[in-house]
Order: sequence, then structure tokens, then C-alpha cells
Amino acid sequence: PRYLALIPAAGVGARMAAGSPKQYLPIGGKPMLRHTLDAFLSSPRIAHTYVVVSADDPFIDSIVPGQGVTVLRCGGATRMESIRNGLRALHGSVALNDWVLVHDAARPGLDAELIERLVVETGEHPVGGLLALPVVDTVKRAVAGEVATVSRDGLWLAQTPQMFRYQLLCRALDAATDPSAITDDASAVEALGLAPRLVEGHPRNLKVTLPADIRIAELYLAAFSQ
Ligand code: C5P
Repeated sequence: PRYLALIPAAGVGARMAAGSPKQYLPIGGKPMLRHTLDAFLSSPRIAHTYVVVSADDPFIDSIVPGQGVTVLRCGGATRMESIRNGLRALHGSVALNDWVLVHDAARPGLDAELIERLVVETGEHPVGGLLALPVVDTVKRAVAGEVATVSRDGLWLAQTPQMFRYQLLCRALDAATDPSAITDDASAVEALGLAPRLVEGHPRNLKVTLPADIRIAELYLAAFSQ
């Protein structure tokens, strides 16, 4: 089987409140999405990378490299829909047992080393797996005036890439009826009663969501670039 990357990049980045969609904001002078694409292009494991954008995206052509990346203009209203549409577009050109690494455009700190770690630790797993970070903070749940401390024992924060075989990923996302309950791909797989493997990621693979995250991403990129 091959290892393929699928990057949903059809969001509008509402929480960033910037002029252009956040995946195109510069991080250290380079568009965020280009960092994300370059991580996969620099990994010898990845056979091909697919990026899902909205049909009328005016920016993608100027940042996509000439080789190794295919642009799919089939973004949907939610992240899950964008991924579903992307998977459908791949039908027939990928094998059912190919691995698909789904990775958010908004995580530009990914690099070949983290991709390698995920692939090595998950490539033989019957279900698949994802990068994640063990929770280090004390966790509180506050609902309707009640506050409780939740044991952090066994708690992880999910990152991406999340890696599953093409056929299983399609089945899991097709079975998901409540898109708002599915905030990542692994949760759709878990809903089938399957347990993906958690592989320790790294804080540099943060999700850029709020304006201050851009600076943090730049600091990590400067610290970890060779
Ligand atoms: O907004 P958020 O950071 O949660 O989005 C996660 C990823 O999903 C981003 O890469 C974003 O571009 C993508 N997305 C998408 N289609 C949508 C909404 C989000 O591809 N409709």
C-alpha cells in the first residue's frame, strides 16, 4: 500500500479574523499551507499529496508546487464534508488499502520526522493511528455552575495527521450522521467500535487558530528548521 496525504484547506478561518483565509497567512514569510505541503513533499514516505480547497479559491494556484500535489476544488461546508468530498474524488485512483494521512492545513509545524514516527508506529496497526499529546495541565469541567477536576490520567490532545486505510476512512465518515460530533477523523473511526493507536506528537505541530498562534508557530519553525 502507498501512503497518501489529504489536506483539508477549505476553511475560512473565522476565529482568526484576518483578511484572507488563515491557511494563506504568512508564517515566517511563507504561506501557512505551503509549510504544510512542504512537510509532506519532504517526506520520502508520501507517494502523493492531495489538497482540498473551495471551488472558487483564488490563492491556491499561486502557492502549489509544480509536482507531487493535486488540487481538489471540492471543499464543503464543514471540515468533515471537505474530507468526504476529497475522498470521493480519489475513488478509482487509489487502492482500498492505501493509507491516507489526513492533516489540517492549519498545522504548519509538521515535518518529515513526525510523519515518519506516525507511519513507523502505525503502518502495521489493524486500525490506524494519529499523532496526539498527553495532557499535562490539570483539567477542569465547568457546566452550569458546577466545577469538577477531571483526572488527566489517560487523556490526550488529538493532533493530525490521522492515518487510516482509504476504505476504512470512507466507511467511517459515511457512517457519521452528526457532523458536529465529528471534530476529527479518528472519532468517526472510534464510533465504529475501533481503537486507533495514539502516537506521541510534538507541541510544534500546534493548530494555528487564534492570531497569537501565528507568532508561536513562527517561533517553533525557527527553533526546529535545520
Ligand atoms: O477551522 P479549523 O482550524 O478547525 O479547521 C481545520 C481544518 O479543516 C483547516 O485546515 C481548514 O481549512 C479545514 N476545513 C475545510 N473545510 C471546511 C472547514 C475547515 O477544509 N468547511
